[in-house]
Amino acid sequence: MDTPRPFEPRRDPGDDEDFGAEDVEIDSVGDSAAVADDSAVGSDRAGGRHRLSAPVPQPPAEHGPARVIAVANQKGGVGKTTSTINLGAALAEYGRRVLLVDFDPQGALSVGLGVQPHQLETTIYNLLMERGVEADDVILPTTVEGMDLLPSNIDLSAAEVQLVTEVGREQALGRALKRVLDRYDVVLIDCQPSLGLLTINALACADSVLIPLACEFFSLRGVALLMDTIDKVTDRLNPDLTLLGVLATMFDPRTLHTREVHQRVVEAFGDKVFDAVINRTIRFPETTVAGEPITTWAPNSNGAEAYRLLAREVLAR
Ligand SMILES: Nc1ncnc2c1ncn2[C@@H]1O[C@H](COP(=O)(O)OP(=O)(O)OP(=O)(O)O)[C@@H](O)[C@H]1O
Ligand SMILES: [Mg+2]
Repeated sequence: MDTPRPFEPRRDPGDDEDFGAEDVEIDSVGDSAAVADDSAVGSDRAGGRHRLSAPVPQPPAEHGPARVIAVANQKGGVGKTTSTINLGAALAEYGRRVLLVDFDPQGALSVGLGVQPHQLETTIYNLLMERGVEADDVILPTTVEGMDLLPSNIDLSAAEVQLVTEVGREQALGRALKRVLDRYDVVLIDCQPSLGLLTINALACADSVLIPLACEFFSLRGVALLMDTIDKVTDRLNPDLTLLGVLATMFDPRTLHTREVHQRVVEAFGDKVFDAVINRTIRFPETTVAGEPITTWAPNSNGAEAYRLLAREVLAR
């Protein structure tokens, strides 16, 4: 099935002045005095904290071995895929070599980067399940310099069933990625919204987990189960796994509710909550239609700046 492209959103390389009603500025969070400075975007003020923004990193002299970060939350639609694409693109802007791994049979990460997953002959499924298929047979370049994609499509759903009877079934992804780690600085794995075997594979080979949490009423529900799963993977499969951080997404500073949820997230996770906060804005669905990250689609937007801040924080942690 072709990705529906119901409209061609207008590219706006300029500032955010003409954002629609859904577009809101983080600057109005916390206090009512709007700050004109764009650098405050996604700042700590959402949580009422005041930390310095993470430093702008220098491009590395050499590349690899990669840090592997699983972007996970079994709750659907919280911004895992959007965060994987845009964090990856922001890291690439800072000179990092990035591999994005689409580990969801829906293939949304691939679609978000302009790839039609159903047209692919080889995907991560073949890499996991077939001897003789190497990562290089599957990896695709993206429109972002320095950022590659390991695409997936619906075939991956069969892998989850087929892996169950395999020896070392939780380490299939780790085995598949091993050979390319030296080439990249960061590998981001976009997990599907479940705690099944695919997500366990991602956690088993990751150095750390990034949890996007939507600033909505039920967002904290189910997080205990996710943390429990992370603990079990740490105990049984991957003792080095750590929680990289919690990313507040879908933040709408116009509502008290969203600020209250954010406050609860900060109470629950403390310093693990990134200062970067991702506002709810129509810009993100637009980037999916455009098939490119917000950092190139609307480079001066709040959303792009917020993901750049996140990238700096990730590099500093
Ligand atoms: N900050 C945002 N503001 C508004 N819409 C957003 C934002 N982030 C993501 N979206 C949109 O919300 C939808 C879900 O986002 P995304 O696909 O990133 O979530 P997900 O957690 O990967 O979902 P799933 O669990 O289905 O894989 C998408 O249509 C996306 O364009
Ligand atoms: Mg997704």
